[in-house]
Amino acid sequence: MDLNSHIERILWTDQQISERVSELASQITQDFTNSSSSTPVIVGVATGAFLFLADLVRKIQLPITVDFVRVESYGSGTVSSGKPKITCDLKIDVRDKHVIVVEDIVDTGNTLSLLIEYLKSRGSLSVSVCTLLNKPARRKVNFELLGSGKFYCGFECPDYFVVGYGLDFAELYRNLPYVGVLKPELYR
Ligand code: PRP
Ligand code: MN
Ligand code: MG
Repeated sequence: MDLNSHIERILWTDQQISERVSELASQITQDFTNSSSSTPVIVGVATGAFLFLADLVRKIQLPITVDFVRVESYGSGTVSSGKPKITCDLKIDVRDKHVIVVEDIVDTGNTLSLLIEYLKSRGSLSVSVCTLLNKPARRKVNFELLGSGKFYCGFECPDYFVVGYGLDFAELYRNLPYVGVLKPELYR
């Protein structure tokens, strides 16, 4: 099966992504240098953020720690259930730590708003968000960053169902090296 033939059009190539990831990593490096004594914790949201996180952390020039949570709300469909669930918890204690949540996409905002509340309840000092894609057209919930937290965004995403570079449809397409629009006939 040629996954590429399922893509209507490429929005960001692997090279464009790579360049943008470098910019985000330098921004984070700059912002968190001397920020405070504690080592920032990078929290990736599995599964979607795995590639972005892997590329991003290799370009951050600071001591950091890395952990994952699993939050799921889409299942095998294209529409958010509106009720994300944390189905796998953190390993690292985030109390009094600066946390940078790494996401592949912020869509309705449900996942992030749940996660930020959760990190707050675990005593994080600040919560920043670094997302590859932001799709404001679909926002349902406005989340508030915690403390001195910042919002980092790779690209503003137009309102299409996009896959690749970690983003899936029914768990497929995550391994495409670029982000593209899935042919609508494949999920309609
Ligand atoms: C997707 C995506 C984000 C979230 C964004 O995850 O990876 O985590 O939805 O959507 P929201 O802003 O509407 O909450 P999904 O639930 O599909 O799980 P996955 O990462 O395993 O694909
Ligand atoms: Mn996800
Ligand atoms: Mg998904």
